[in-house]
Amino acid sequence: MQQPSGIGITAIGAYAPPKVVTNADYEQHLETSAEWIESRTGIRERRYAADDEFTSDMGVRAVQDLLGRYPQALEGVDMVICATATPDASFPATATLIAAQIGLHGVGGFDLSAACSGFLYACAAAQGLVAAGINRRVLVIGAEVFTKIVDQTDRATAILFGDGAGAAVIEQVPQGYGFQGFVLGSDGAGAASLYAPCLAPKLPDGTVIDSRYTVMNGREVFKFAVRIIPESGQQVMDKSGLKVSDIDWFIPHQANIRIIESACERFRLPLERTIVNLDRYGNTSAATVPLALSEAVADGRIQDGQQLLMVAFGGGLSWAACTMKWYAGNGVQDL
Ligand code: ACO
Repeated sequence: MQQPSGIGITAIGAYAPPKVVTNADYEQHLETSAEWIESRTGIRERRYAADDEFTSDMGVRAVQDLLGRYPQALEGVDMVICATATPDASFPATATLIAAQIGLHGVGGFDLSAACSGFLYACAAAQGLVAAGINRRVLVIGAEVFTKIVDQTDRATAILFGDGAGAAVIEQVPQGYGFQGFVLGSDGAGAASLYAPCLAPKLPDGTVIDSRYTVMNGREVFKFAVRIIPESGQQVMDKSGLKVSDIDWFIPHQANIRIIESACERFRLPLERTIVNLDRYGNTSAATVPLALSEAVADGRIQDGQQLLMVAFGGGLSWAACTMKWYAGNGVQDL
């Protein structure tokens, strides 16, 4: 096995807003059924941010949860990266809005746009910044209010998404722990399969953007996901010198249980070694991986020294896979 990098996550936290929307709630205004939603997606309920809550609010709450668990975790943080597809504004970066509210003034801050793959992309960026000696401690946040960019009258997309955030501190960890490898990919030729509008009236392939909301070709994204998760997951394991039997926990992007089951089948990895919480949160885009990781660390499933495989996919089309040896330190490395 390739030696872990000695850079990893030392603190983790997450947040999901209190408002629960169940599958049955959609029956009131959409031509759908709770049974259809659960059987086709595995989702039972998801959380919605309040009308006056946005991505920075989700991010701040996730950092507060992290601080409740690791009280000194922000000491010495010198960079904040927020992975999001739903920034509060085009600029300033949501990272800077969050940083100011958690008392981090003067630190670096930028947003990273890679849709649902964003958190793992941001982890890779953070690892690079620490390895290069540019930063010592990087706060990586995956935060979204996707329910605000989904047409709530469109049954094909409304039922899939929820809001939330996760936050992690990335820094040096003892030798033998931390990130081992990343595989990051994208193919803009698939852009039309999943996008949300901003300024341009068309995509480069000529697709006319005539919706104010997220547009998704569910079947295309499904096909892409069942191919790319095993492919990129295998690539990152090969790169890290790992086999599926080495993986203690698989943490996939939480979009659809059928996609996760298909990946587990391809890997011959039992579902029992997979962290799944989409039944309670739906797809929270860049927040799914840190939300799932945070829950599994908090409830004691993920233990010190365990081998993790994380894989995400999303708009872009984009994908990201990562291997990591979990370090259950106290969140304060030598400052
Ligand atoms: N209730 C009832 N019927 C519905 C609903 C609904 N909520 N939504 C769609 N249908 C209908 C369709 O209209 C279709 O009807 P038709 O056969 O008359 O045309 C039928 O159900 C089957 O539709 P499919 O799209 O084939 O259904 P499928 O089994 O593929 O499930 C789903 C749809 C859940 C969207 C699935 O394709 C999927 O999960 N795709 C991946 C989506 C995804 O992961 N997106 C997030 C990417 S991450 C990011 O970056 C944002």
